[in-house]
Amino acid sequence: MRKNIVAGNWKMNNDLSKTAALLSDLKEQTKTSNAEVMIAPTFTNLWHAFEATRHDDIEVIAQNMHFAENGAYTGEVNASMLKSIGIQTVILGHSERRAYYNETDESLAKKVDTALANDMRIIFCFGEELADRKSGNEETIVENQIKKALFHLEASAFKNIVLAYEPVWAIGTGETASPEQAQDMHAFIRKTLEGKYGHTVADDMTILYGGSVKPGNAKEIFSKPDVDGGLIGGAALNAENFYAIVNAF
Ligand code: 13P
Repeated sequence: MRKNIVAGNWKMNNDLSKTAALLSDLKEQTKTSNAEVMIAPTFTNLWHAFEATRHDDIEVIAQNMHFAENGAYTGEVNASMLKSIGIQTVILGHSERRAYYNETDESLAKKVDTALANDMRIIFCFGEELADRKSGNEETIVENQIKKALFHLEASAFKNIVLAYEPVWAIGTGETASPEQAQDMHAFIRKTLEGKYGHTVADDMTILYGGSVKPGNAKEIFSKPDVDGGLIGGAALNAENFYAIVNAF
């Protein structure tokens, strides 16, 4: 079943005391929509955030994880470490990970397999760069990103996957894809899934949009039929703004 989800990706922001303060601000907000709410603090604050929201309608999720189950990977975090502190969902493939840490479609396919083997839910991110859109290649780029990282999976795996279309040119730039651009791409993503896995998988897929979503534009973006929610960066760092987006459904 398709769901509405609004997830806040805090990226590398908020130390422990700021995390605690933002969590207490978030707990004061009232949810009036049916959207599932998720927040992704940095690794060091996941346990605190999980404990602090244990009785709230907020899921704490991770921003990344390694593809190996264990081993000599200094500085990395694996699936069982996340699961052992209650984390069930992980963001994979964010464009910042692809751009700054050389994450490739191939390494992401391995991460996807590891997350699924550990019964984790994945928010899988992808999206084209500005040059791709300017040259009219955005659909080819997105199609390839999805195919290379996900199309080796069985159809049944997709019940644990949420897709997040994040055009790189709209991330942190204040420039949002227009609601029509988002809708067109989301419809294309659904068609791509349908071509490989059939109507039910495509229709049930939750597809989020990310890239400069703000309280002022969320309602219009979320009103599009193939946009099922948002992955929110900057605006998720303020509780009131974040819940204005959550309640935009
Ligand atoms: P902004 O909302 O700051 O553009 O970031 C989007 C994003 O990258 C969420 O993962």
